[in-house]
Amino acid sequence: DKGGYKHFMAKEIADQPGVLADALAAYLDGDAILLPDPGIDFSRIERLTLVACGTAFYACLTAKYWFEKMARLPVEVDVASEFRYREPPILPGTAAVFVSQSGETADTLAALRYCRDKADTILSVVNVETSSIARESDLALPIHAGIEVGVASTKAFTCQLNVLLLLAITAACARGHMSQAEKSQLLAELRALPGLFNATLDRSADIEAAARKIAEARDVLFLGRGLMYPLALEGALKLKEISYIHAEAYASGELKHGPIALIDKMVPVIVMAPRDALFDKTVSNMQEVMARGGKVCLISDAAGLAQAGDGIWQGITLPAVDDRLAPLLYALPAQLLAYHAAVAKGTDVDQPRNLAKSVTVE
Ligand code: F6R
Repeated sequence: DKGGYKHFMAKEIADQPGVLADALAAYLDGDAILLPDPGIDFSRIERLTLVACGTAFYACLTAKYWFEKMARLPVEVDVASEFRYREPPILPGTAAVFVSQSGETADTLAALRYCRDKADTILSVVNVETSSIARESDLALPIHAGIEVGVASTKAFTCQLNVLLLLAITAACARGHMSQAEKSQLLAELRALPGLFNATLDRSADIEAAARKIAEARDVLFLGRGLMYPLALEGALKLKEISYIHAEAYASGELKHGPIALIDKMVPVIVMAPRDALFDKTVSNMQEVMARGGKVCLISDAAGLAQAGDGIWQGITLPAVDDRLAPLLYALPAQLLAYHAAVAKGTDVDQPRNLAKSVTVE
């Protein structure tokens, strides 16, 4: 049931405030983060290997930043199709984590089986709790996104991020890198996030207007730094898969190492950048783009848009948010841009050509 929306994808995007609130309620009891038995002792884990495909892979790439910075745990991330055939050595003390909405993705399942007798523990982050990946894990963590019908993953992505963040907080506390007070403060911010989701959805009209302009382009570039880099990759994937517009994403700092050659007035550059500690660097990247006639669509908060000044082609203002939580909030405009660009182009949003919801063959 599309609940009055034109597409499942639109409903699944709009449902995210409630879905995230429910997912948080399932994992939090006051300041306690509840993990299913047998839990995981992060004080004994020395490193993590995160493996997934597509959007779930970008959730893993985001989690790498969280685990490394907050929990001081070294993290490797790989796409399942590369991981499984490379026969990577799995060192003692490794927890292997597999992220999959369907829990049936062939490459991800094969990568899990490869780790079976090698990793200390096998965790999975899944939406379908009865899936093969969940059943074959030592510990399966449900994301509680509810059934996702649209082929392009939306609410499953934010719910994957949520569970990975809760795991990173658990690890940070267990390893002595986060105090109770810091944990409580971050969880309070997380509980406030569904409200910021709503405030962002209320801005849909601005995002739709930008998307209509972007829909006229043949190629689009996404840029982001730090936690916004994986999100830039996710934004580009979403735009490609449902609007069929060619999109690429780069870490902002890589711009001058090649992709800047693409910049001209035909290629919109979507910059995802809350006004965090790295914002000044992003502003200088945007200036490099604008100096070459490039059109910048800046997704930021009010302070960021004010600092960026004149010359921005399209500005999308989001509420200010704790830096660590920005990937969840900025996922919404990334999804909405792709959605409205696809609607403007008249493509089949829920069933894009050549794609299947669950990829059970390699
Ligand atoms: C993109 C998308 C795909 C999936 C990928 C993995 O919108 O949906 O990239 O994320 O096929 O699927 P799961 O998570 O089921 O393993």
